[in-house]
Amino acid sequence: MVVNVHQFAQWKRAGRTIAVLTAWDYLSAQMVQAAGTDIVLVGDSMAMPVMGHETTIPLTLEEILHHTKMVRRAIQNTLVVVDLPFLTYHASRSAALLAAGRVLKETGAQAVKMEGGYPDMVETIASVVRAGIPVMGHVGLTPQSVYTFGSFQKQGKTDEDAKRILGEAIALEDAGVFSIVLEHIPSDLARKISEKLTIPTIGIGAGPGCDGQVLVTSDLWGLSEWQPPFAKTYVNLREQAIEAAQQFCEEVRSHQFKL
Ligand code: KIV
Repeated sequence: MVVNVHQFAQWKRAGRTIAVLTAWDYLSAQMVQAAGTDIVLVGDSMAMPVMGHETTIPLTLEEILHHTKMVRRAIQNTLVVVDLPFLTYHASRSAALLAAGRVLKETGAQAVKMEGGYPDMVETIASVVRAGIPVMGHVGLTPQSVYTFGSFQKQGKTDEDAKRILGEAIALEDAGVFSIVLEHIPSDLARKISEKLTIPTIGIGAGPGCDGQVLVTSDLWGLSEWQPPFAKTYVNLREQAIEAAQQFCEEVRSHQFKL
């Protein structure tokens, strides 16, 4: 399957907004594909709701490769973008190339996402793009830097920080990324960045002025115990799943279960 990542910039020019959902296994991927998502993101956010970690930092490359293979088996015609986990692409450009290359070669996904827009990271991302690997950027609240931020708090609230994030987004576009996630930044800043760039911005907690929106699907489905304040939950599947399981347990214990 050939996927053309440049179509997203064409969509931006045509005013077609982009819907992105995460998936972490075969079932979740089948369902987001059936729902018509434009991009499937195998996000490292899975480290938290799916794997029970407190941050995305412990997730390994082997783990995300394993999950991406499950996702990829379900997906036919949709672009699959995979997060490179923390510290698989920071140490050197060759480390980044090898990690991104493994994602494409071993899973059949077509693009990677890399966090950060500081000068060294922009250079690293440019070298991955030059190797023929499409990259989605990610600025604003970059969860892999949570210990530097001190919490999962909104970024870009001061003029200086907003200017820095805008500069990072421009540098990433110049480095060749095909789109950029803007996470948890003020909506006027997200709108300004979206107007400035020719590639699409994909927002999460960044207001309606972005060229697309992404949700962590376990938040959308209400599966997790906890959701970030900017997550939109459309259904409470957690409650329904617990109730169904409780009903089963009660039927078994009261000898009502028949099949
Ligand atoms: O890991 C993830 O799911 C993400 C989205 C929140 C953009 O990076």
